[in-house]
This record gives sequence, structure tokens and C-alpha cells, in this order.
Amino acid sequence: MASSKPVVFNNTVLRDGHQSLAATRMPTSMMLPICPLLDSMDFGALETWGGATIDSGLRFLGEFPFDRLDALKKACPKTKHMMLFRGQNIVAYSHFPDDVVQAFVRTSAKHGMDIFRIFDALNDTRNMECAIKAVKEVGKEAHGTICYTTSPVHTVDTFIRLGVELEEMGCDAVVLKDMAGLIPPYVAHEIISGLKSNIKIPVIIHTHETAGMGAPTYYAAVDAGVDSIDTSIAPFANGTGQPDTARMQALLKDHPRCPSYDTKKLRELHLYFKKIYDELGFYTSKKNEGIDTDVLNYQVPGGMLSNFRVQLKEQKMEDKFDQVFAEVPYVREKLGWIPLVTPTSQIVGTQAMMNVKFGRWKMFTPQAMDIALGYYGRTPAPVDAEVRKLAEEKSGKPPIDCRPADLKKPGMEDLREQLREKGIKDDDEHCVIYAMFPQQLEDLYKKPRSAYALKSPADKKPEGAANPSSGTFKISIDGAAPHTVKVQQL
Ligand code: CO
Repeated sequence: MASSKPVVFNNTVLRDGHQSLAATRMPTSMMLPICPLLDSMDFGALETWGGATIDSGLRFLGEFPFDRLDALKKACPKTKHMMLFRGQNIVAYSHFPDDVVQAFVRTSAKHGMDIFRIFDALNDTRNMECAIKAVKEVGKEAHGTICYTTSPVHTVDTFIRLGVELEEMGCDAVVLKDMAGLIPPYVAHEIISGLKSNIKIPVIIHTHETAGMGAPTYYAAVDAGVDSIDTSIAPFANGTGQPDTARMQALLKDHPRCPSYDTKKLRELHLYFKKIYDELGFYTSKKNEGIDTDVLNYQVPGGMLSNFRVQLKEQKMEDKFDQVFAEVPYVREKLGWIPLVTPTSQIVGTQAMMNVKFGRWKMFTPQAMDIALGYYGRTPAPVDAEVRKLAEEKSGKPPIDCRPADLKKPGMEDLREQLREKGIKDDDEHCVIYAMFPQQLEDLYKKPRSAYALKSPADKKPEGAANPSSGTFKISIDGAAPHTVKVQQL
């Protein structure tokens, strides 16, 4: 036994829970009544912000993101607040200049964020460095996060080495993030044991129950000495979400590391969230609640699978589902075996679809070309030389090897000026949100404040509900009409 300390549970119901099972549509107003109880549980941390919640809150719920953070911080003052942060992409889909990343961290810390879980879709630590440093500067916790994926170039050792590097970069903890629920228990045991014997900072694991492996994987990680795990509250748990807290604790009964969260209170939490789940019924789907072993065959995140079923239908390519998903590993290989997580999951999926529809690389999307040319960072394996050359010719852009943000000019002053011109408040809060979601912020600003703040979505016409995604990508391909790619956040 690596450790005899009880394992700590972090709770994800206010972020990943509804992001995975209700298309990120839980408004702040539905969270606030239960906050005192959540805050009284002694969870390691409450994941309350980041990931898709900022985009979705702005786009669909009419909430200014910092208002939610303020409200939740006030309602849960005792427990640490945690957010998911996409490194140089912050909580959006492209790279931002360092000063915007720094301002975002500073501002979030000022509004009460305690733990920043920082990852990069390519596991390129250069894209995480600026955020990690900024978090340390404001005296908050930087959790360096490793995206788990399977490929011929990813071994147990790859992940352990990444953990060591993140500790050396000054992180306060290392998180193994399994966004697709693909880690089998034995593999989790090996990686966690390896991390525990090679680094001193706490080790955390995050997974999803999508393929039915989440809870056994956590169990194996607990045996291997993991310090904390992420659980949620049913029905915003299990299926495509995290294993639920009550079940996970029951599973660990009599285990030397079993924690002791109040089961009566857990029951109360469950009853409350059951009611909320029903109210958000428009955004939930039976399909997400069960176990889907398809993700194991395709080795892609569940969100990507369900999203592409819809997208292929829109493209009248339903009959090509197997072909498109067989194309995914081919595209990944040529693009250097990149992990599939926002935004790479959308980019690889779309390129696979284009390859099947028009022939391989006949329609090369600008985003896929950018990956091939290094504009997203260093890929786990080199990009195929021919594909890189093709991207260079088609885009007219040179390949790069530097950290992508090194090519970005500082952005804050320009953002401030743009906001001033539009008559929108020009403080750091608005600047960083405007940098990522300019149109959404403008739209929000056009409405009277009282009409949008912390509003319930119940009386709104659901947008994009048939396809529970949180955003869209416009992809225009030479010769073809631009089409919109829905973003399924992971
Ligand atoms: Co997750």
C-alpha cells in the first residue's frame, strides 16, 4: 500500500458534471441553493468554473462569467474553488498573447479562484508555462495537467516523464486527465505508481465513466496511492460524467484509504440534483447516462462520438460513420499522434470527415494545417513530412518550431481600446472575456443587465439542443461553402 491516508474527493458537479451530462446548461441560479450543503462536505475542492462553462454561460445562459464566480465564491466560502484552464488557449480554442493569459489568471484569482488546472491539448508544456508562472505569481495553486491518450508513441513512461517535468516547472500538483474515460485500471495503477515514486507533489486523477471503467480505474489509482480523485453527484455523474461520490465511497468500504463523506448529506445532494436534472431535461440524453463501449473501439472521447453522429447526419454522411472514425487514427498519426481534447478533437474529427468526403487532404482545414505547421505547438511525434509540405503550400504559411505565443504581440491595450470604442466597460474582466468571445460579450452587453444576470434557462427557447454542443467553429474550405462545425467541449 503506497499510502494509508484517506483519498480526497474533489467534486465536479458544478462544472464537468453538467458539462458532460447536460450540455453545460446549469445556470448559477440552480447552483446557489445547494452551495451551503456542498460547501459543508469537506470536499478537497469544488470545480466551479472554466472548461466550457464560460463559453456556454455567455452564449446560452446570458451570464457574465465573473458574476458566476463571484456568486459561487460567496456561497461556498470554505472549500477551495477549482477551474479547468486550457493553457495558452485559456478557455477558448486558439492561442492568446501572454499578457492576456496573465490578466485572466490575475483577475480570476482576484475573484476567488484557488486552483488552476492547466493543460495543453498537445501536452506541449511550453503552452502551459506562462499560465503556471502567472498562477504562482498571484500565490494560487497551479495543477499541471497531463492529457491521457493512447498511441504508439504514448507509453506509461511518457506520462511519468511529463509529470516530472510539470513538477520541475513549479506546479503544486499533477493531474492525470482522462477526458475520454479510456484508462483501464491496471494502466492507471502503473502511471499513478510511477508518478508517486518520481515526484513529491500530490497526484490527482480525473476520468469519465463513459465506457464503464471510471470507478474501477479510480479504485486502482487509490491502491496506487493517488492523493485525490474527482467525483460528481448523480444524476450529473456516471455515464459520460465522473463516477458519483456515494457509489465511489461505497466501493471503497473497508479499504484502508476509504474517506468518510457524510452519506446523509450525499443523499440530500442527490435529491436536489435529481430535481435539477429533470428541469434541464431538454439538454440531457439517455444515451449519455449508460455505458458506451464504442469509445473503446474508436479511442475517442464520448462527446466527440455523439457530436459527430449529428454532424455526419447534417452532412448526409450517416452511412460513412465507420469510415470516418477509421480515418481518425490515420489523421492523428499524420498530425503527430496528438491527443483528442478541445480543440484538437474537433479539428481531427472534421479533417477525418473531409478526407472521407473529398479524398485525403483534398480539403485541408485551416486548423488542421495550423497543427501540421506547428501553430498549436509541438506534437507528440513529428508531423508527416508530406502532410506538412502540403499544408505549407496550401496555406502559404511557413512551419514554426517556436512556442506559438512567442509570435503574438501583447493584446490587452488593444482590447481595452476596442471595448472603449464599443462603449463596453474596459476593465480586465471584460478585456479577457472579449479576447476569447467578442461577439458573445457584445451580444450580452446589448441586453439590460437585470434581464440576463443569473437567469434560469427554463423559459428560454433552447439553442442547439438537438446537438448538445456549446459552440461553433466556422470552417471554410477552398471552393466549398463555409460550414459550421459544432464544438463539443470535453
Ligand atoms: Co472531464
